[in-house]
Amino acid sequence: MKNTLEVIILAAGKGTRMKSALPKVLHHIAGKPMLHHVVDTALQLKPEAIHVVVGHGAEQVKESFKATSDADSLEDEITRANCKLHFAEQTEQLGTGHAVMQASSNLKQDSKVLILYGDVPLLRKKTLQKVVDSVEESFTLLTQILTDPTGYGRIKRDDSENILSIVEQKDASTSELAIQEINTGVMALPSDKLNEWLPKLSDDNAQNEYYLTDLIALAARSDTPIQAINPSEQFEPQGVNNRVQQAELERAYQLNCAKELMMQGLYLSDPARVDVRGKVTFGSDCKVDVNCIFIGHVELGDNVQIGPSCILENCKIGSGSKIAAFSSIDDSELGENVAVGPYARLRPGTRLANKTKIGNFVETKKAVIGEGSKVNHLSYIGDTKMGTGVNVGAGTITCNYDGVNKHLTHIEDDVFVGSNSSIVAPVTLSQGSTIGAGSTITRTTPEHTLTLTRAKQLSLPEWKRPKKK
Ligand code: UD1
Ligand code: CA
Repeated sequence: MKNTLEVIILAAGKGTRMKSALPKVLHHIAGKPMLHHVVDTALQLKPEAIHVVVGHGAEQVKESFKATSDADSLEDEITRANCKLHFAEQTEQLGTGHAVMQASSNLKQDSKVLILYGDVPLLRKKTLQKVVDSVEESFTLLTQILTDPTGYGRIKRDDSENILSIVEQKDASTSELAIQEINTGVMALPSDKLNEWLPKLSDDNAQNEYYLTDLIALAARSDTPIQAINPSEQFEPQGVNNRVQQAELERAYQLNCAKELMMQGLYLSDPARVDVRGKVTFGSDCKVDVNCIFIGHVELGDNVQIGPSCILENCKIGSGSKIAAFSSIDDSELGENVAVGPYARLRPGTRLANKTKIGNFVETKKAVIGEGSKVNHLSYIGDTKMGTGVNVGAGTITCNYDGVNKHLTHIEDDVFVGSNSSIVAPVTLSQGSTIGAGSTITRTTPEHTLTLTRAKQLSLPEWKRPKKK
């Protein structure tokens, strides 16, 4: 019984048909490089080591495992899973068999080896687990029956259905081309067998490549049992070679994700019109209208309603809150029964207490807003600490930036700010103060007092409107 699992991921190909400077495996599905999807799924199988074969854009591919921002890197994730990460360089792409040869010297003597492709991102843990579990002394392949098998390697069986070999499209005869069972590329076998057979591969074929698939014929000849397993979902083994397939897989991923969310109880107006690029968690009776995008980790409480075309990124929204159409929320935390939008933009560092209201065309940034406070229309509130029960009139601006430094604005409890006011930071509006409309406030205002900066209104009775000559 072999207990240790090692995973080899082939990621050296260029992906010419993507017509892009970016190495193929770094192209995204659901906001994440395809290779990272593969690594994440592989990690769920608890392997001892992951070997990534890199070639085209090797430096860029390796770099992608390191942190780019404050988020955890894939490298950290791998370390936390107690897994070792090795990169093997394939300087010339001489075929899938040749790619595996580059990693094979790092394998342990008696492990199970699972081989995956970096451009096949949607395989599920469940399917791969079945492949891995069936390897003892045998060789396991993930195969699939396709009505159109064009392009794939075909699985050849004898009259008793025993697998004999895989024949590539370019090497196949007319009768072989008619075979509908195809090689998905995923396979698993014991490391000692792999190392025994790899040196026997030759490049004597239509593409002059070392085919990994030729291992099957070698296994069959040495009477090693070969099994085929099928994926649970038809889309799982699909790969990406061009932008069309990338878009198809994106849709397959998103539809599947939407179905899972619905099965967990989320109401989606239309499962075909929601995009999740990360993870969404939610309580009971939440509703999401069409064309919303969720990025990073989004957490919704109970009875949260998200209107159409909202973009929610790394945020937490408390129970009973309503986000109206076309709002964008980034790195923010909202309490319960909060109302936001339509057309609101909550930028990083926004913290809204319970029962606050942020209305249309309001932008907030690093703004901590106390319970029950309202900023209903056309305002900018940045670098601000606001108390409870505050009312900010339309068109109010916190002038937080002097061109060099950012300054803080304090707005204490029960302040009333009249419309079209400029609050020049650093400044404090003391508790209960009222600001007359159109004021420019530069100094601390006294508590419970009306403060205004306004030119007196004049009327000129002698003035005449000019007339056209
Ligand atoms: C391969 C299989 C084929 C199978 C198909 C499934 C072989 C010979 N053929 O064909 O039976 O039906 O996948 O999609 O294995 N790669 C390297 N280095 C190389 C060559 C490839 O790292 O030298 C990587 C590629 O980046 C890619 C993967 O291996 O991720 C598959 O290579 P690709 O050239 O796409 O294989 P296919 O011809 O599609
Ligand atoms: Ca391919």
